[in-house]
Amino acid sequence: MVKAVVLGAAGGIGQPLSLLLKCNPLITELSLYDIVNTPGVAADLSHIATPAKVAGFLPPDEGLTKALTGAQLVIIPAGVPRKPGMSRDDLFKINAGIVEGLATGIATTAPKAFVLVISNPVNSTVPIVAEVFKKHNVFDPKRIFGVTTLDVVRASTFVADIIGDLSKAPDVVVPVVGGHSGVTIVPLLSQSSHPLPSGFSGEKLNALVNRIQFGGDEVVKAKDGAGSATLSMAYAGAEFAIKVINAMKGQKGIIAPSFVHLTADPAGGEALKKEIGADLEYFSAPVELGPDGVIKINPLGKITDAEKKLVEAAVPDLTKNIQTGIAFTKKSNL
Ligand SMILES: NC(=O)c1ccc[n+]([C@@H]2O[C@H](COP(=O)([O-])OP(=O)(O)OC[C@H]3O[C@@H](n4cnc5c(N)ncnc54)[C@H](O)[C@@H]3O)[C@@H](O)[C@H]2O)c1
Repeated sequence: MVKAVVLGAAGGIGQPLSLLLKCNPLITELSLYDIVNTPGVAADLSHIATPAKVAGFLPPDEGLTKALTGAQLVIIPAGVPRKPGMSRDDLFKINAGIVEGLATGIATTAPKAFVLVISNPVNSTVPIVAEVFKKHNVFDPKRIFGVTTLDVVRASTFVADIIGDLSKAPDVVVPVVGGHSGVTIVPLLSQSSHPLPSGFSGEKLNALVNRIQFGGDEVVKAKDGAGSATLSMAYAGAEFAIKVINAMKGQKGIIAPSFVHLTADPAGGEALKKEIGADLEYFSAPVELGPDGVIKINPLGKITDAEKKLVEAAVPDLTKNIQTGIAFTKKSNL
């Protein structure tokens, strides 16, 4: 029996994500919470012939508490997406309070749930969730994840495209580490399961790295004011959620990059900090998942000099983003 909850379920990501979760037979209960429209989304999804019992909740009448009661997995795509010209700081100002409020609900109602944070900026919203959990004395770093899977999915797709065989996309594995915005996104292309063609270097390689780092901008621009990535994000969010559920149910050897607090695996976290050469609290690294969340934070391993430079370049922004999230929660009265 697995109860999954989507907070922000009526949105551009929330709806297709809820659809994909409803399609997964491992989920037996699916609760949808949003400030609008969840009764309709829930009624619609509830007609799909799969096991999950679907219910929709709105804020009145303790809707958040009801949605979260008994949850094992909570996914948060609530908030505002980026529009052209909107800075990450502007986005943070709106989404920080939303995520903080929802995290408070989880900390009080479902403190043992796995929490998967999609709301941007992930580099700051994950520290917000963690700080809220600390305030409520329920912080377990093994159970809080920043969803960076879309960067991994984009890397797989773009590499398969360059190899000239998109049918390989589902099998291409490229670790993407660091954080989840711009230069903090570090694709380790040298470790791709499917090597790039010989001679794919220099400007071509730089352009590929840039496309993975700024893939979100490509979508924001193409949507021309109608929001950011929703469908690919829903796919990526569902993929990561199902990995967490499979690990929860005892499947072994599941490894996926995620933005986590580095005390989730103290020894692995310390080793990673040495590799990075910075004393960061959070980092996205390939983590091994188990029934209780993170089992192991894997090292970066052998990377090229160019990749080392990308990691170095990620550190200042990451440090700032993490501090912004922590400072926001410390100042707050929630
Ligand atoms: N992690 C990633 O890779 C990634 C990728 C794309 C987008 N995002 C982020 O995901 C978030 C959602 O994007 P979207 O395109 O679905 O936006 P959207 O505006 O379409 O949907 C957001 C939903 O959140 C709801 N909401 C707002 N405040 C809420 C609250 N307090 N409680 C519950 N629900 C609330 C809204 O009503 C809306 O239905 C944004 O922050 C966006 O930047 C993350």
